[in-house]
Amino acid sequence: MIIDGKQIAKQLRVNIAKQVTKLDRKPGLAVILVGDDPASTVYVRNKDNACKEVGFYSEKINKPANITQAELLSEVERLNNDNKIDGILVQLPLPSHLDANQVTEAISPNKDVDGFHSENIGKLMQNKAFLRPCTPKGVMTMLATTDIDLVGKDCVVVGASNIVGRPMAMELLNAGATVTICNSKTQNLSDKIKQADVVVVAIGKPKMIQGDWIKQGATVIDVGINRLNDGSLSGDVDFDSAQDKAVWITPVPGGVGPMTIATLLENTLTAYKAREEK
Ligand code: GUN
Repeated sequence: MIIDGKQIAKQLRVNIAKQVTKLDRKPGLAVILVGDDPASTVYVRNKDNACKEVGFYSEKINKPANITQAELLSEVERLNNDNKIDGILVQLPLPSHLDANQVTEAISPNKDVDGFHSENIGKLMQNKAFLRPCTPKGVMTMLATTDIDLVGKDCVVVGASNIVGRPMAMELLNAGATVTICNSKTQNLSDKIKQADVVVVAIGKPKMIQGDWIKQGATVIDVGINRLNDGSLSGDVDFDSAQDKAVWITPVPGGVGPMTIATLLENTLTAYKAREEK
């Protein structure tokens, strides 16, 4: 069976839009894009459009690729102090002369809707999460729509990035699963995957995970989005062979992708509510 991320994300947006109509002030999201990387430009535009769809206040801030670290930090600081803004997101990757880690740490943890600030990552690790990274949280929302009980299940996460793999492993651990975190150097990767009840893959290698690596009846979550030479999109999993083995599987496109932005809206609403309660 397919986990329809497009549909689940749509439902999330409808729920958020309904809540927004009851609020006195619109939740506000600021997205900073440095430079004009084509993929990042598309992501930022999609985030802005999603904000408009649910009735949020949205600021799309384009900065030239040659902005200095000090100028970028001062823009973040301005937004930290802007009462219209509940969430701040700096689109990654940044040009190489900029220190992305320092920028992430400069965002107020209360407005850190990416959940990348060390304070929010620390809370996630202690199972006291406030703002949680969007893609892993979106995957948990997708898993919640299935009938799978994660407690005691063997979960394998392939990929150990700060954006997906590491927080994904924490989310699954917090849900009571037994978690194995693999990376690009993992030995006998197929053996690890073969014993998994749930596999989450985020490595950026098209169709790397083969169907015969998947345990019969497993759940397969594919975070990869890879552009093939023929222009089509493919995940990190070989969907055609994996779908014969999996009980639940996410497609690419239309799987995890739409969930990330819907979860960003959810996080912005969480940050809004926390600020309003203060
Ligand atoms: N680049 C790729 N994914 C993300 C994300 O979730 N947040 C930000 N800020 N940049 C990204």
